[in-house]
Amino acid sequence: MGKFKINGGKRLYGEVEVHGAKNSILPILAATILNEGISVIHNVPRLKDVEAMIEILEHIGCKVSFKGKDIVVDAKDVKDSEIPDHLMRTMRSSIFLLGALIARNKRAFISFPGGCDIGHRPIDLHLKGLKRLGVKIDESYGYIKCEGKKIKGSEIHLDLPSVGATENLMMASVLAEGITIIRNAAKEPEIEDLQNFLNAMGAKIKGAGTNTIVIEGVKKLNDVEYSIIPDRIVAGTYLCAAAMTRGEITVVRALKDHLEPLISKLKEMGCILKTGNDYVKINCDKRPKAVDMIVTQPYPGFPTDLQPQIVSALSIAEGTSIVTETIFDNRFKYTEELVRMGADIKVEGRVAVVKGVEKLMGAKVVAKDLRGGAALIIAGLGAEGTTVVEGAEHIDRGYENIEKALRGLGADIVRIM
Ligand code: UD1
Repeated sequence: MGKFKINGGKRLYGEVEVHGAKNSILPILAATILNEGISVIHNVPRLKDVEAMIEILEHIGCKVSFKGKDIVVDAKDVKDSEIPDHLMRTMRSSIFLLGALIARNKRAFISFPGGCDIGHRPIDLHLKGLKRLGVKIDESYGYIKCEGKKIKGSEIHLDLPSVGATENLMMASVLAEGITIIRNAAKEPEIEDLQNFLNAMGAKIKGAGTNTIVIEGVKKLNDVEYSIIPDRIVAGTYLCAAAMTRGEITVVRALKDHLEPLISKLKEMGCILKTGNDYVKINCDKRPKAVDMIVTQPYPGFPTDLQPQIVSALSIAEGTSIVTETIFDNRFKYTEELVRMGADIKVEGRVAVVKGVEKLMGAKVVAKDLRGGAALIIAGLGAEGTTVVEGAEHIDRGYENIEKALRGLGADIVRIM
């Protein structure tokens, strides 16, 4: 809650550790209900979205304990198949309960999910895929009623590689009769993490991380203990913050393979990067250089979830950068706030032309979504004077105590009410 107050101009220096991946833990928490037993999950970040998912799990009958970085979900008594509208609206990831509930209870009754204000986010591909598995779907008045008495393995070709649809269909088909093949599947690392979690639970899934995933239905699953991967978007956010402040930092628990598309752009910007097994080190002692072209794409392309953060760093680069957003249709709103801080950014549809300025000036700005909010914090760290970023609740959806992590790197940032 509240806002962040940043006195900018401090060069970031030191070491920061990355917490567990938000986009892994959310589907994995939903997947815990597939087993009528216990799931123990480690490396869980304390995020608002995680709390929202726990609330949903408790509502349908799970017992959840969250101590330190460990969550234990007891899903023996999942009774309810209905998720009330106010819980569905708190975040878009509530949609993962659709696939999981159908597999567990053979039915689900939910409203359309809420989420970030970054554009139109339909769930048609989720529903189309579920129908291919034999689920009967009735949509009316903003509600979706699903009956899946007999879920049968099938071949599903996704019209586009949707992350959420791929994960939902994996969960829906784990306990199905026969084999399901998902083609044109999304290849994000978090999908592989879900596969590994489900397999540890006794599922038989192959191919996650490629565009074809094969799920052989099993009759029963077992108790599981699992540790989730580090958050590549959080790691990338710190790297962009270093580029903005001409900093020198080591991001620990960052998997370089997951960050390759960002690392190659930061190198183009003139930063020096070194990588090891579980760290990425960045040194940017000069003003960053502009990059000709960044185009967001499904993994392994440049991630849309790092687009605002790199634009923020490019706003003070030498030269003009062109950034194209192909995944979401309204993901440049935060640029209006950067312009208030002195940035020179023009947006035409899905393209942003970022003309680098010498420096940004502190201002009062408002975060309207999660990653756009992170971009404003980065801007505040580099700006001259004081920046106040309102809307901390959006940033808390995906970053655990971001102010503490940045203070550890020497930033002057506090949370105020
Ligand atoms: C996931 C991530 C989110 C990231 C996004 C793209 C989670 C919890 N969230 O979101 O952080 O920004 O991937 O990398 O993992 N689409 C349809 N119909 C559908 C589903 C999607 O048209 O049924 C479209 C969307 O409008 C969007 C594109 O497909 O334009 C990608 O969406 P998708 O990959 O599904 O993103 P999410 O799973 O919502």
